[in-house]
Amino acid sequence: MSKFMEWVDARFPATKMWEDHLSKYYAPKNFNVLYFFGSLALLVLVNQILTGVWLTMSFEPSAEGAFASVEYIMRDVEYGWIIRYLHSTGASAFFIVVYLHMFRGLLYGSYQKPRELVWIFGMMIYLALMAEAFMGYLLPWGQMSYWGAQVIISLFGAIPVIGEDLTTWIRGDYLISGITLNRFFALHVIALPIVILGLVVLHILALHEVGSNNPLGVDIKKAKDEAGKPLDGIPFHPYYTVKDIVGVVVFLFVFCAVVFFFPEMGGYFLEKPNFETANPFKTPEHIAPVWYFTPFYAILRAVPDKLMGVIAMGAAIAILFVLPWLDRSPVKSMRYKGWMSKIALVLFCVSFVILGVLGVLAPTPGRTLLSQVCTIIYFAYFILMPFYTRLEKTKAVPERVDG
Ligand code: HEM
Repeated sequence: MSKFMEWVDARFPATKMWEDHLSKYYAPKNFNVLYFFGSLALLVLVNQILTGVWLTMSFEPSAEGAFASVEYIMRDVEYGWIIRYLHSTGASAFFIVVYLHMFRGLLYGSYQKPRELVWIFGMMIYLALMAEAFMGYLLPWGQMSYWGAQVIISLFGAIPVIGEDLTTWIRGDYLISGITLNRFFALHVIALPIVILGLVVLHILALHEVGSNNPLGVDIKKAKDEAGKPLDGIPFHPYYTVKDIVGVVVFLFVFCAVVFFFPEMGGYFLEKPNFETANPFKTPEHIAPVWYFTPFYAILRAVPDKLMGVIAMGAAIAILFVLPWLDRSPVKSMRYKGWMSKIALVLFCVSFVILGVLGVLAPTPGRTLLSQVCTIIYFAYFILMPFYTRLEKTKAVPERVDG
C-alpha cells in the first residue's frame, strides 16, 4: 500500500491533500452541535445528486410526458418511490440544514474577518440552491409547478423597459410550455449542480485557508506549541470525522422517518395541487411557493407596488452578501456581544419565521400589516447593525478556549 501511495504521490498530491484538509487540519476543540450542519449539507448534496441521477433515468422532460413519468416512477419503477421521496424530502432537508448552518454563522460571527469569502461563497451557494430548487419544482409538471413558475417568472415583467422581453426569454415561449420545461431540466440536472459543486469546493478551500471559527470566537492560531500546532485545536481526522458520524446518524433517523411516514409533510414538502397535472386554463385557488421561499415571498407581497416588491425581495437576499461589512463589533461570538446584538438577532429570527408562515397563507389586511412590520424588522437588523454593534458594550474574549 505504501509503495502504491509513493507512486501516486509522485504524480498527484493525494497524501498532501489528505493531510492539509483532514489529518493535519486543526479545528477548534470546542465545536458544538451547530457545527454538524456543514457536513450534513455535504451529505444532503450527495443524496440529491445520487437520487437525481436515478430519477433522470426514468423521467421524461416533456410537457406531454413529465407528469405521467413521475407517476410511472412512483408506481412501476423498482424502488422508484423511495428514490423520489429521498429527492423531494432531500430538497426540504437541504434548506433546513442550510438555514441552521447560516444561523450558526450569525450567532458566532463566522462571517467576520478573516472569513468574509467563506460567507460570500456560502451566499453564492444559497442563491444557486434557490435557483436549483425553483427549476426542479417545475419538472413534475403539476398544477403548483406550473403556476408557481408562472408567478415567479412574471415578476421579471415588473422590470421597466426590458421586463416583458426578459420573461419571454426566460420561458423561451409566450407562456410556460414544454420549451420552458426542457431548459429548466437542462439547468437543473447539469448546469446548476456543477456550479453548486464548484462553489462548495471554493467554500471549503476558503475556510481551510483561514481555519474554522468556534462558538467562543477565540482565535486558536494565537496559542501554538513548539511544533506550531494550535493548543486549542484537534486534527479534523479522526476527531471530527468520527464526531460528525453522530450528527449523520441522528439526521438520518429523522430524515428516514419523514421519507417513510410523512413524505408530503402535510402539503409542505409536496404541495397538494401538484398531484394534479398542469393545466394552463385552471388557476389553483391559492398559489404559494414551497416553504423555504415563503419568507421572501411574504416580503414581496408586503410591498404594495409590484416593482418595489421585487426590489425589496432582491434586496432582502442581496443584503446578506454585505453582512461581513455591516458588523463592526470587536468580538465575533454572541456570547461576548452586548444586549443590542442579542435582541436584534432574536427579533430577526422571529420575524423571518413569521414571514415564512405569512408567505404560505392567503393575504388579509391584518396579515399584510404584520408582514410589513416583519419586513421592516428584517431590514432594520442589517441597516442598523453598523450602529448597534459599535455602540454596545462587549465582554472581553478569553485568550484560550478553556480560560
Ligand atoms: C451546499 C451548501 C453548503 C455546504 C455543503 C457547506 C459546507 C460547509 C462545511 C463542511 C463547513 C465546515 C464545517 C462547519 O463549520 O459546519 C462550512 C463552514 C461554513 N459555512 Fe458552509 N456550506 C454550505 C452553505 C453555506 C451557506 C449558504 C453559508 C452562508 C451564507 C455558509 C457559511 C459558512 C460559514 C460562515 C462557515 C464557517 C463557520 C465557522 O468557521 O464558524 N455555508 N460550510
